[in-house]
Amino acid sequence: MKAQAIADGIYCIHADIRTEDYFEGIWPIPHGVSINSYLVIGEKIALIDLCRDWGGAPQQMEENLHSLGIQYNQIDYLILNHLEPDHTGCLGEFRTRNPKAQIFATQKGIDLVKSFYKLEEGLHAISDGETLDLGGKELVFFETPNVHWPDTMMTWDASSGTLFCCDAFGSYGALGDRVFDDEFNEEEHAFYETESLRYYANIVSSFSTFVDRAVKKLSPLDIKCVAPSHGMVWRKDPARIIQRYNTYASWAKGPAEKEIAVIWGSMYGNTKTGLDAVIEGIKEAGIPYTLYRVPDDNISYILAGAYKSSGLVIAMPTYEYAIFPPMAHVLDMFKRKHLFGKRTLRIGSWGWVGGAKKEYDAYLEALKWDSLESVEWAGSPSEADLALLRTRGQELARSLPHA
Ligand code: FEO
Repeated sequence: MKAQAIADGIYCIHADIRTEDYFEGIWPIPHGVSINSYLVIGEKIALIDLCRDWGGAPQQMEENLHSLGIQYNQIDYLILNHLEPDHTGCLGEFRTRNPKAQIFATQKGIDLVKSFYKLEEGLHAISDGETLDLGGKELVFFETPNVHWPDTMMTWDASSGTLFCCDAFGSYGALGDRVFDDEFNEEEHAFYETESLRYYANIVSSFSTFVDRAVKKLSPLDIKCVAPSHGMVWRKDPARIIQRYNTYASWAKGPAEKEIAVIWGSMYGNTKTGLDAVIEGIKEAGIPYTLYRVPDDNISYILAGAYKSSGLVIAMPTYEYAIFPPMAHVLDMFKRKHLFGKRTLRIGSWGWVGGAKKEYDAYLEALKWDSLESVEWAGSPSEADLALLRTRGQELARSLPHA
């Protein structure tokens, strides 16, 4: 794989990871993911971010560098926008092969260089707005904490208008031989848009306030190219991905798309029968919905679907005096990921004794959802239950706020 020129002396170095491993050990990546680094060549050479020994990334990265005739030991500065090991796992190996390069990161990043990699020499903690003169190229560092960990910064090259923005504006999905937005057709863009939403919902959504803050902080910059650490490089239409992230960040605080994510699990079909009536009501109201079944559907996709929807239906029975366990996992993840601001309806059956409602109500309070009254029934739903469930489905669909 060859390095791709963004501008004179500025290159994207990328590795495609195609593996059955989970991203962060949690999130499935059936279509892979790219790990992007960047090379800036002035009189001195800076490498922005590394990779880890995963899916052949170090070999791919080196191949990219060699395509420019560059070896690790020629690099003068290693800029680490963020210390998560997908971008730094090879740091020890890098240091062995290049003992002289100065390593730049935020103070929190430098602390992590020491704790993760036990390196002490040649480290420099940047201050916000600090510049680095490479001779013919000047880089500026902006602290952007919590996009998506506390140590994050972004690096800016004013001469080309390129923002090396770390995990912000990223996406799942390997790239292949192409890296630039103008090299993908609209059908491919639609695929990466889905994957960028899933990436955002999985990785970034908890930090949406900080995304907002970072976008505002960087808004005075004349950004001509958005160069993230995962996903395509936006040189033709950088505003497209920035606007998309603005929209995603806004969904964390308020209404999202006018649609409903229906998340359900059923032990013996009684909850499913009740859910069918709710869905009839939603259909009658003409609102789009997407079904996610637990435990069959992976939480990564459920999070993305729920994040983009203004409305949620949570359908699950009582199990051992409490919530059906696979749904408890979903609700726990929603709480961890701060999935606030939803209009919701919870339904479900119970057999011997109830209990799910009590546990669910605690989640409701934590998640601050605007919820219709739950509908529960014993055993199989009666005709009266089904009529009520259909009405509740209509009510939910007709009362959805949207952005
Ligand atoms: Fe791609 Fe937060 O590391």
